[in-house]
Amino acid sequence: MDLSNLVQEFDVGGRLVTVMPTGNGNVNDTYLAIFRNTFEEYQVILQRINTKVFPDPALIMNNLRKVTAHVHQKLEKDCERADRVWQMPKIVKTRNGNDFFVDNANGFWRVITKIPSATAFDESQGVEHARECGTVLGYFHWLLSDISHEGFADPLPGFHITSGYLAAYDRVLEEVPEAKRRLSASMEARRMAAFVEKRREFATVLQKALVCGELQKRMMHGDPKVNNIMIDDFTGKGSAMIDLDTISPGLVHYDFGDAIRSICNPAGEEETNLSKVYLDLELCEAFCMGYLEQAEMFMSSADKNYLYDAVRLITFELGLRFFQDFLAGDIYFKTSFPEQNLHRARVQFTLCESIEVRESMLQKLLCG
Ligand SMILES: Nc1ncnc2c1ncn2[C@@H]1O[C@H](COP(=O)(O)OP(=O)(O)O)[C@@H](O)[C@H]1O
Ligand SMILES: [Mg+2]
Repeated sequence: MDLSNLVQEFDVGGRLVTVMPTGNGNVNDTYLAIFRNTFEEYQVILQRINTKVFPDPALIMNNLRKVTAHVHQKLEKDCERADRVWQMPKIVKTRNGNDFFVDNANGFWRVITKIPSATAFDESQGVEHARECGTVLGYFHWLLSDISHEGFADPLPGFHITSGYLAAYDRVLEEVPEAKRRLSASMEARRMAAFVEKRREFATVLQKALVCGELQKRMMHGDPKVNNIMIDDFTGKGSAMIDLDTISPGLVHYDFGDAIRSICNPAGEEETNLSKVYLDLELCEAFCMGYLEQAEMFMSSADKNYLYDAVRLITFELGLRFFQDFLAGDIYFKTSFPEQNLHRARVQFTLCESIEVRESMLQKLLCG
């Protein structure tokens, strides 16, 4: 079925002008579709949901319907107080009234409204942008802060349970002879194994805080990286959070840590010169300023006490996942050269060390 027939299964006004690929997402296939009539233009986003990552697309559409219904109402109520026009995509139904369309090759398609006149940057653009990213994530968390997480399905169970990744790491070293060989053949890998051991105890810090009731589960985004944050082309202010498939019950701390990990390391995840990898405090301060201003509306001081740990933990966790995958033989993360996953792990562990040496500065920033 071609794209133009497919997108016309959805209930968009006007006549179709064009459908073309858009954005730099690496999970779903994303297209921009433009419809017009005599007076108006309608731009929508058509996406094929990646069923390898999300085996049950009906489940994520169900989550999306509930979240957007809640948030749209809340945005309308908050519009007088807000300093900008915030947006959130809306599901466009099929002509038969469904949330998604299944083509004859079993592909799952959905259409959502486009956030108009806004850009999702692939990299951090400097301090003003970092602050806007913090504001968008903080406001997004506030929007979700009063939805009960009961009744929401988890699209990626175990995604941020660090002890689960440690168990997988132990298993691969125990059960896969090649993994043992890779470890003993590389001095670098052995140093990294020692790095992991020193942080084994720390790895459960957020899970423990959850179990003893210091932290509570809330709805979180699940993938708050820089190119899921839309910045208004005319005002430079953040206007929306997109890529809502990973929304799930969890700790907003994971989102906070992951956003800082990705936005405040100017070298990015693929840098091979480790001397360029560090946590940029200026970017970090700007992000936190934006986030905390919004977080005042829903965070307790116990929540804030764990923000530093979250930044450190999420960086350690991603490093561990790359390292485990290197040992396992590059099964999960695609590589384009040998030892790429070992390099990626080194970047995250280096960033983790950089976060650790800034602990007192970060704590002061986050807890006052
Ligand atoms: N509602 C939307 N409005 C405007 N642009 C969008 C919207 N949804 C997606 N995009 C664009 O498409 C890209 C990929 O979409 P995304 O939902 O993030 O998919 P992926 O899960 O593959 O990252 C985004 O980075 C953005 O550029
Ligand atoms: Mg995305």
